[in-house]
Amino acid sequence: MSSDSPQQIPHRRRRRYSGKYPRRFEEKYKEHNPEKYAETFAKVLASGKTPAGTHRPIMVQEILEVLAPQPGEIAVDCTLGYILSRIQPGGRLLGLDADPIELPKTEARLRALGFGPEVLTAHRTNFAGLPKILVDANLPGVDIILADLGVSSVQLDDPARGFSTKFDGRLDMRMNPQRGQPASQLLARLTPDALSKLLVDLSDEPNAPRIASALAGQRLSTTADLAGVIRETLPRASKDELDLTLRRVFQTLRIAVNDELSALDSLLRCLSGVLNPNGRVAILAFHSGEDRRVKKAFAAGLRDGIYSEISHDVIRPSPAERHANPRSASAKLRWARRSLS
Ligand SMILES: C[S@@+](CC[C@H](N)C(=O)[O-])C[C@H]1O[C@@H](n2cnc3c(N)ncnc32)[C@H](O)[C@@H]1O
Repeated sequence: MSSDSPQQIPHRRRRRYSGKYPRRFEEKYKEHNPEKYAETFAKVLASGKTPAGTHRPIMVQEILEVLAPQPGEIAVDCTLGYILSRIQPGGRLLGLDADPIELPKTEARLRALGFGPEVLTAHRTNFAGLPKILVDANLPGVDIILADLGVSSVQLDDPARGFSTKFDGRLDMRMNPQRGQPASQLLARLTPDALSKLLVDLSDEPNAPRIASALAGQRLSTTADLAGVIRETLPRASKDELDLTLRRVFQTLRIAVNDELSALDSLLRCLSGVLNPNGRVAILAFHSGEDRRVKKAFAAGLRDGIYSEISHDVIRPSPAERHANPRSASAKLRWARRSLS
């Protein structure tokens, strides 16, 4: 059993939710096993939802259009996705992901499709580690960089990771569970003022002070405990308001636990040094705190002559994609092109 397994939640906690949540995630979510449960998988997709255990990439067409990957180019996918086939023949992809649980699975999937180590290398690292990865690979620069921020549906839907408001699991939220401190420890040591500021800065939470007073300093061990305190704090909220609040609080804690904005800042800072002339970068953000940083960094780079071109406006998913994949709704895409000199 992994140290993050929901089975390690104290018995008292599990009993509170018996009957409402699956005893085992894999049992309830047959979509985890698409070969065995093809019909269920197809039904979930047709209903516009993302089958559990899979990640449906977001804004693929828009990203391919702005990055325009060409055969033979060297690409970095900071979040290891689908770009690989577009740069063949002759291209090379360095895939980065901080998650030691999902990275080997993605690598195995791509290896099974026939991509060998000469075209694909997978690196378990934070974005901040990109310059070092390139030095180690003896690469002076790359032609394409894609960063699809946040967490994937696979991470979200795994109760053991503690990312989701929907499942009871250990209150962890670390992309790399071997490093740093879980959300439960962060909550226990935050003051109400510090938590309130995080809720405003990272999720524009309107009830920040009230929620922060209820949560800061608490020793909560599961996602259900966290959701329970939030529910008790807002007894008059409608179901929709409560759902939105839960999502904002979970998002805030996840960003703070993983220090995601610092990692994004490091990535934005290193771009001028790692992109080849005419190289393209695309960043897919999922909340305004991330998008503001990307917008500002690209605008400053254009002013300073680092970039020759940047996206004028943020690019959003089409209504059809938002309908087909509700998880895409908050996506915000921006791109920039390195100048020739
Ligand atoms: C939205 S998913 C990307 C999914 C991928 N593009 C695809 O289509 O399958 C984001 C991924 O980025 C990783 N990630 C997020 N922030 C990171 C960071 N600062 N450093 C490294 N990896 C990060 C997460 O672990 C997650 O696997």
